[in-house]
Amino acid sequence: MKNKPEIGVCYYPEHWPETHWREDARRMAALGIAYVRIGEFAWSRLEPERGDLRLEWLERAIEVLHDAGLKVILGTPSATPPKWLVDEMPDLLPVDREGKILGFGSRRHYCFSHPGYRNECLRIVKALGERFGEHPAVAGWQVDNEYGCHDTARSWSEASLTAFRQWLKDKYGSIERLNAAWGNVFWSKEYSGFFSIDLPGLAPAEINPAHRMDFYRFSSDQVVEFNRLQADLLRQLSPGRDIIHNFMGRTLTFDHFALGADLDVSSWDSYPLGFLEDRSDAGDDWRRRFARAGDPDFQAFHHDLYRATSAGRWWVMEQQPGPVNWADHNPAPRDGMVRLWTLEAVAHGAEVVSYFRWKQAPFAQEQMHSGLLRPDGVEAEGYFEAESAVEDLSKIGSAKVAAADAAIVFDYPSAWAWEVQPQGREFEYFRLVFDHYRALRRKGLSVDIIPADTGDLSAYGLVMIPGLFTWNAALVSALRTFKGVALIGPRTGSKTADFCIPDTLPPDLPKDLADVVVSRVESLRPDCPVEIAGENGTIKFWREFLVTSGSCQTEMFSEDGWPVLVRQGTLHYLGGWPDDPLLDAVVARLASAAGLSTVDLPEGVRLRRHGDLTFVFNYGETDADLGALGIAGPVVIGGNALPPSGVSAVRN
Ligand code: GAL
Repeated sequence: MKNKPEIGVCYYPEHWPETHWREDARRMAALGIAYVRIGEFAWSRLEPERGDLRLEWLERAIEVLHDAGLKVILGTPSATPPKWLVDEMPDLLPVDREGKILGFGSRRHYCFSHPGYRNECLRIVKALGERFGEHPAVAGWQVDNEYGCHDTARSWSEASLTAFRQWLKDKYGSIERLNAAWGNVFWSKEYSGFFSIDLPGLAPAEINPAHRMDFYRFSSDQVVEFNRLQADLLRQLSPGRDIIHNFMGRTLTFDHFALGADLDVSSWDSYPLGFLEDRSDAGDDWRRRFARAGDPDFQAFHHDLYRATSAGRWWVMEQQPGPVNWADHNPAPRDGMVRLWTLEAVAHGAEVVSYFRWKQAPFAQEQMHSGLLRPDGVEAEGYFEAESAVEDLSKIGSAKVAAADAAIVFDYPSAWAWEVQPQGREFEYFRLVFDHYRALRRKGLSVDIIPADTGDLSAYGLVMIPGLFTWNAALVSALRTFKGVALIGPRTGSKTADFCIPDTLPPDLPKDLADVVVSRVESLRPDCPVEIAGENGTIKFWREFLVTSGSCQTEMFSEDGWPVLVRQGTLHYLGGWPDDPLLDAVVARLASAAGLSTVDLPEGVRLRRHGDLTFVFNYGETDADLGALGIAGPVVIGGNALPPSGVSAVRN
């Protein structure tokens, strides 16, 4: 844990004449930057030909940064194998589901399972670790860059096929067990040996969901293994330094909890405007209104998620500083938003917020992507916002993020399960969980995101477990002793780990916890919602027909008379995907049962409690007032009036 939050920046010394470096470093330090991430795409300059290692320039760059008092996060260059290596080993290239090879010319052009490529990565990482591992300026390592970005976690290559067969063998031991677990008697899919199993690519009709699910699990494991090889080596060669990776937003193809177990610090790359434009489910009106601010919950969701993946230590490694280049439309942030995003990350516990990038590059793919400086070296808008964020940060001491009011379980295998078998076009796990998360935040609650194998829920007043495809013993036993209020479903416990319907039907919980059975399900067209008696909300996309017995009582009915929300003690089960008004009603009811105080926040205004501070952020376009929200106390940042893009922090 650091003494206070700090800022950083991403820098590419190899993009600029060496004569610029010293002045760049001086200006970074003058701005208040503490950390500089370098090197993550520099393989062709570090080793222009096999064996021709050229580390001197990197050493000089590190020295220049060190002289200016800056600390370095050194990237390992494995996201960009150089051309000579691809020519030598063309089968390291990834292959898509249709069998097309994804070639050289951009980045992330490798298959995680390729043993030869893994060795090449270890070779270059060893050289870097031996040379710089104990350099006093090197504070940490970023392993690779954005695993899974550009949809690259899954590969249908030969290397992947060989590794998948071995993975299945290790998992099932015998082909008979695999055939039984997958249900391969169906459509005559029985295999006579592991050697004959293919990757689930193209087929005339749907491929067995259990086969796909295992391929998704396998692919995630490959990413985790790939990362672990480098992380373990760096730990030996660079003792005491933080091992970091930079995750991406809404990337679900590998298990970030499993990968985070090998990191000291999780970080992620936060591009609020790019994400709103290209990976949001919100309608056009919402996207228009927040086009220059970003979605008020999307960043917070990822801050809370990634904080949980490495035991609480996390950074933003890349913070959008101005327009990006990669979304359908790339607007400029509204004045004040870069500062707001910076402070919001800190309010969720970030140790460091690092901007991408120092200076806009005038060449190649990202020449239209802004930096803190324009390509001519003059300060861009983001620079001044970073400067004002630094001033604000000096007013905030470090505080370990305490447990939040409420927790939501997030589980990557559940995302894969519903990707494999959505049973209705709209059923998407991230979207379901995010809807619940937003509803908690609309009521002013701070939220922790927790993994599915959490064995102790006692820190929370309210816990939500939507869409968890299968139970695990730790969570069930945590629920048994949990004294707070729990909301489970829809679709939770609706499969076994082998991707079958459980014998006693969903939600597959012991009767003394929840004496309810999902007797039938249906998915709904978006224009066919189910009305709820006495509420103005509806069930959309997904509906379950619940049959209760024993002490399980119905709290909400559908207009056509079926239980929708049922309760046994403080455990609730929700038989459908609630729209926002229904979720608001459910959260209000549950929060009150849990004794949590809530506030109905104006659109775009969000709260986050951090240590003894309450932060308030205004993503909206109208002024807000802290008094009207019931927030009072000595003001540390901002004031009681909260203009658009405003941030206030009040001591509790
Ligand atoms: C990130 C990536 C950076 C840069 C940036 C542009 O996804 O890690 O290298 O491409 O996006 O927004």
